[in-house]
Amino acid sequence: MEFSFAKRLDGVSESATLRLNALVQELKAKGEPVVNLTAGESDLAPFAEAKNAAIDAVNKNQSKYPPVPGILELRKLVADKTNLEQPGVFQTRPWATENVIVTHGAKQAIYNAMMALLNSGDEVLIFSPYWLSYPEMVKLAGGVPRIIQINLESGFKVSPQQLANAINAKTRLVIFNSPSNPTGVVYTIDEYQALGHVLKSSSYKNNIWILSDEIYDQMVFTQAGFCSFLKACPEFKDQTITVNGMSKCAAMTGWRVGWSVAPKSLTQAMNTIQGQSTSGVNVLAQWASIAVLKLPQSAFRGVCEIYTKRCRFGLEILSKASKLKLRPPEGAFYFFVGFSEYLKEDSIEFSEKLLQKARIAVVPGTPFGEKYYVRLSFATDDSSLQKGLEGFVGYLNTL
Ligand SMILES: Cc1ncc(COP(=O)(O)O)c(C=O)c1O
Repeated sequence: MEFSFAKRLDGVSESATLRLNALVQELKAKGEPVVNLTAGESDLAPFAEAKNAAIDAVNKNQSKYPPVPGILELRKLVADKTNLEQPGVFQTRPWATENVIVTHGAKQAIYNAMMALLNSGDEVLIFSPYWLSYPEMVKLAGGVPRIIQINLESGFKVSPQQLANAINAKTRLVIFNSPSNPTGVVYTIDEYQALGHVLKSSSYKNNIWILSDEIYDQMVFTQAGFCSFLKACPEFKDQTITVNGMSKCAAMTGWRVGWSVAPKSLTQAMNTIQGQSTSGVNVLAQWASIAVLKLPQSAFRGVCEIYTKRCRFGLEILSKASKLKLRPPEGAFYFFVGFSEYLKEDSIEFSEKLLQKARIAVVPGTPFGEKYYVRLSFATDDSSLQKGLEGFVGYLNTL
């Protein structure tokens, strides 16, 4: 019997990497060693403080429904953290608990925001390469993803001119993601200010919201460090949603704690959506997050140092494939590499052959908007990273 499902699912992709994952599982089941460079999550353990706080919460019978927008103490810590990263906002009208909603990972914060903001046909500007869920979430929320292609030559960063050309009367939301998954690009304060200037000068500025996905904020390898969008452009406070969470920098992807910080009215709208769908986030995970957010900044610096070293080490190996297209990442934990100088085949096909022939699993770039690129994660232990990258370089050099 054939079932039909809601029209809103038309054109929404499930996951382009499913077939690849199935192949990895098949090989592993046969006892074949596969080096896995697909991880979108830290290989490190969560902080001991997170684990202890969760155990403590269990022992204290913290088992009742949490408030829909999150435990007050956690929202306070999130507001404080965001104020620190956005000094211009802090000095004028600082964020408070009423601006924060704790969500099931950063993903649900982004989804809730889209559900609250988009009407049918509203356009969302997404700069490609992009995190693969943005366009699919836009479609689910009834909007239209407007993909703006940026390339390696422009440093995988959108230029003010490109932004100016893309804005029109239907533009409702602009998504920034720095540090970026998959490119590792980090926007500087000057670059954000130049983009902010374009937004400010647009005749449609009052209709436009900005979503700044800052989930990799603690993982930046440059001297200048991380810059929140609202640090550069605090004047956009009333139309910006800052998204962050515990997943990447606290190695807690499975605990599913994210959040957004946004004007009160939007936060309330997102709260209505969350209250009628998932309700509040697991209390144990929220208590664990409270313990992590109380840690000194130095705790995160240690994690960042590990990734900085791996990045340098990985770049040395990748430099041996001289025709590889690569912009050294400034943050997050991925190398996004272009292989078109070696051969022109879609990255899905390329990744399948790489897995079959060299037993190395990578993520194809096609669902991120770049079909001749693949994403190699350095969120893995040093020896697997070395083996995987050397194998990858060796494979390219046989082509
Ligand atoms: C750029 C970006 N935003 C959001 C998310 C979702 O994070 P979470 O696991 O907290 O939902 C990810 C996860 O891969 C990501 O890479």
